[in-house]
Amino acid sequence: MRRSAAQSLAGLVAAALALSPACAKAEAQLTVQYDHPLHAVSPTLYGLMTEEINHSYDGGLYAQLIRDRVFFRREHHQYVKIWSVDQNAVNGISISIDNRNGPSRALPYSLRLTAARASPEDPGGIDNPGYWGVPVWPDTTYRASIYLKSGARNPGPVTLAIVSDSGKVMASATFAAAGPQWKKYTAALRTGRVRESQDDFVRITVGHPGSVLMNVVSLFPPTYRNQPNGFRIDLMRKLAALRPKYLRFPGGNFLEGKTLADWYDWKLTIGPIVDRPTHPSPWGYESSDGLGLLEFLEWCQDLHMQPVLAVYAGYALDGMHIRPGPQLEPYVKDALEEIQYITGAATTKWGAVRARDGHPAPFALHYVEIGNEDFFDRSGSYSGSHGRFAQFARAVRKAYPRIKIIATMPVRGDVQPDLVDDHFYRTAGQFLRETHYFDHLSRKGPRIMVGEWATQQGTPTPDFGAALSDAAWMTGLERNSDLVVMASYAPLLVNVNPLASQWGTNLIGYDALHSYGSPSYYAQVMFSDYLGNQAIASHLSEAGPLCFESVTRDAATHTLYVKIVNASPQPQPLALRIEGGAVAHDGTLVTLHAGSTHATNSINDPDRVVPHTETVKWLGSDVRHTFAPYSINVIEMHVH
Ligand code: AHR
Repeated sequence: MRRSAAQSLAGLVAAALALSPACAKAEAQLTVQYDHPLHAVSPTLYGLMTEEINHSYDGGLYAQLIRDRVFFRREHHQYVKIWSVDQNAVNGISISIDNRNGPSRALPYSLRLTAARASPEDPGGIDNPGYWGVPVWPDTTYRASIYLKSGARNPGPVTLAIVSDSGKVMASATFAAAGPQWKKYTAALRTGRVRESQDDFVRITVGHPGSVLMNVVSLFPPTYRNQPNGFRIDLMRKLAALRPKYLRFPGGNFLEGKTLADWYDWKLTIGPIVDRPTHPSPWGYESSDGLGLLEFLEWCQDLHMQPVLAVYAGYALDGMHIRPGPQLEPYVKDALEEIQYITGAATTKWGAVRARDGHPAPFALHYVEIGNEDFFDRSGSYSGSHGRFAQFARAVRKAYPRIKIIATMPVRGDVQPDLVDDHFYRTAGQFLRETHYFDHLSRKGPRIMVGEWATQQGTPTPDFGAALSDAAWMTGLERNSDLVVMASYAPLLVNVNPLASQWGTNLIGYDALHSYGSPSYYAQVMFSDYLGNQAIASHLSEAGPLCFESVTRDAATHTLYVKIVNASPQPQPLALRIEGGAVAHDGTLVTLHAGSTHATNSINDPDRVVPHTETVKWLGSDVRHTFAPYSINVIEMHVH
């Protein structure tokens, strides 16, 4: 968790204009050598980084709608109240936690709901607010489930309803009366011709006197590809549009945990939900782990991304670490077992567990990262021939020689990584100055994964000034993608309710009903859509200091991509000369533009800054075009 000193884009613009008031007005020249590829563009360049922060999963991508469905009630390492009692003088409802009766070893307790005088006319029970509201759509089927066991006197069937803030039932379903043993009950709820809303909550009631024990209350709306225990459709579509090539998971700080006891213990995130005990996210709330290891892998499968698995490496955010050597060995074994769960045949011990969990086919895994941001470990226990990194890397390489190993910092000693993960959280001004950062770095050492990067400007999502510097930074990533083989913006997701987020600037925002992409999101969609597979020799001259370029091609389809970012408040005229091929007149121009660096998208104004795509007929080997002030542009050309 680090932030840089603020230096605004406005400051840099002012400085640039003061230095050379006419610089953005002079015509720039961009000469492109179409037949001179410099290097391949990394096929894995753009990916996703994700963790349980900002209610990214619970209250976000993981579509389940009940908050604290296991009645654990631990947030910020304290116990808080999510559920409330729906009672009146007549029904006499009371609740308590029964610590001796639970549906599983992972959940050895339950909620006991007692109704002294409930009747069908006066039912009562408990209410759940969802994640800042329960979303209601018209004519929609929801799937509910619950574990129940009757008390000494059975209060009969249990009803689960979605109720509006005015008390109107929007949809409801009834589970059969609980038996004397724990059992999972399921039901479907369907809304009618209701209005879309998110001012709703869930109410669970009984209509007769008695007591019933309950746990693991789940409610799913329709999910992406209709998967049970699945993902939110709108968010998955937005992620798919980024065409990500990899998913780095499960963190981030979420991998490490606040203390050594809070580490991401993957074995507690697999199997039936009733066997997942939940655990505290370092971001101040309890993670349901409904989106667990297998769901991460299925997410990769759905979006055709390759997993970049970060394994826990014995460091906690409070600065404590597990000593390398025998004490660390159980964690190394655990990482090897995790890799076997992912890649092993169904005949292996952990491959068989994955098959039991519903996925007999192994997943491909080419990258394993050892830890996260271990440069924060001031003890120095990560680096060196006998450090934590070396202990993990030796074991993983021995068992899985083809897997590429990623270190979270440069390491000393004889065991070297294939890649180093470097993180860049910057101000707009810093990124605009650092677009050439990688140009002169040595190509002799490990390759680089920029596992987290972002311009920190705009809350809860980046504004257009941030999008400009993000785009400028990406031109540097593309030009240097022989060295920088992976890059992922972070954080990716934010629930925009003020109490839901912990980080200032995040790529995609949402509430219970809606979601939107920030200007930076759209810049990344553009860069990913028009990536090409080879970087091409080009030379930009006479441009203002806030003009940035990347030129790539797809040799097989004879397509050339020229990206121009004009982060200046003045238009940028440009003479474009393409050598080494004949350029067709017809092509495509995509522009993301705003009148001010403060322009932004929001939950109530999601489409203020979106790309505009047009077919153009003025292209050729020698053309002139003026790029608008504050604009991100991609020209797609056909060259023969
Ligand atoms: O992206 C937010 C946090 O920033 C990550 O969890 C951590 O790796 C970094 O410090």
